Amino acid sequence: MIFPNNIRQDIEEVLYHESTILSRLDELASDITSEYADKDLTVISILNGSFIFMADLLRRINLPLQLDTLSVSSYHGMHSSGEINFRQHQIADVKGRHVLLLDDILDSGLTLKTIKEKISNAGALSVKCGVLFSKKVTRKIDIEAEYVGFEIDNKFIVGYGLDYNEQYRNLPFVGVLKPEAIKKWQKK
Ligand code: IMP
Ligand code: MG
Repeated sequence: MIFPNNIRQDIEEVLYHESTILSRLDELASDITSEYADKDLTVISILNGSFIFMADLLRRINLPLQLDTLSVSSYHGMHSSGEINFRQHQIADVKGRHVLLLDDILDSGLTLKTIKEKISNAGALSVKCGVLFSKKVTRKIDIEAEYVGFEIDNKFIVGYGLDYNEQYRNLPFVGVLKPEAIKKWQKK
């Protein structure tokens, strides 16, 4: 039965099917497992966007690790607000540990740069970044991730954790929205 508010019909084009994403996560997890084999690893995942990426990636990493999350927001609709809001003040105790930050997508670079500095200042031995997507053309700040799932063009994508005004995170694949869907969830 197709419900009238079925979210899949709001997608204009599917860019990455779930199977494509999961195969790439197998490769990333294998690289991460080799790199951190003899290191004390703490993964810090940036919410909300990275929750599905985190869950699927971490189950493929065959190593002891500690997990923490940081909740931040910077986007309004389809554009970065230019500032990062931390929803909590406490961060994990990372002294003497190697940290891998995970985010859904690296866009202007503001989010990862801000958090990377915060974690480095808290005494981590190293801080690296892993993102499912990277939009190189929109970078405003000089930062790159060591682990990148897919390099993408300057398109606004949703699904597999990525949102448009908090909608569509629960789609199992990644795609672009139809214009009428963008209008439907536009903030007044
Ligand atoms: P940055 O701080 O500009 O690098 O933005 C990173 C954050 O912007 C991500 O964690 C996402 O929440 C959001 N973002 C950037 N591009 C997209 C997109 O195409 N779709 C959904 N969210 C995006
Ligand atoms: Mg977001």
